[in-house]
Amino acid sequence: MNGAIFFSGKYGSTLQYAKWIGEATGFPVFDINDPKADPSKYDYLILGSSILYFRLTIRKWLSANLSKLEGRSKILFSVSGAGPSAKLNRWVAKSLPSGLASQMEHVALGGRLDHSKVSWWVRMMLWMGSLFNPDAEARKDERYGFDYVDKDSIEPILRLVGQFKKLEVLVE
Ligand SMILES: Cc1cc2nc3c(=O)[nH]c(=O)nc-3n(C[C@H](O)[C@H](O)[C@H](O)COP(=O)(O)O)c2cc1C
Repeated sequence: MNGAIFFSGKYGSTLQYAKWIGEATGFPVFDINDPKADPSKYDYLILGSSILYFRLTIRKWLSANLSKLEGRSKILFSVSGAGPSAKLNRWVAKSLPSGLASQMEHVALGGRLDHSKVSWWVRMMLWMGSLFNPDAEARKDERYGFDYVDKDSIEPILRLVGQFKKLEVLVE
């Protein structure tokens, strides 16, 4: 099976998930900023992205590579502080070029926020955001950080890859 993982992240958790999925599937892992990251070379794509400021960080790359993504089987995984929810689905939908959402499954994975790893400016932005956040749990996460990274949570992605492999055998 000719598949690959393309990811966009900033603080390491999306990279961590991409590596775990790469180890489990045997697919190569590409940072989207790598000039060798060419999705047109693969039939099956796993696209991973962190969510910063209510948007997928991979969104510009998706738009720039739309013609290479269409017609290929795809899974999207997002990495965020917010858990699976209507709110998260809205952020994801708003980040995707039109039509792309209906072409792929979305799996939401939990991220990590370590205040000692972000700049004082980002810490201040997060603190200010927390003042207006109506969700008490999310407010605490923004103020003090969190770690929801969990290797077992990639299981649904591995299941989807497994289903695709079975289909591939059937049509051969
Ligand atoms: C500046 C900043 C903005 C963020 N904005 C959001 C957000 O809007 N929604 C959310 O659920 N999580 C948000 N997060 C949490 C990130 O999604 C989480 O830290 C994620 O693990 C980052 O992925 P990365 O480690 O691959 O960069 C934000 C984190 C930072 C540092």
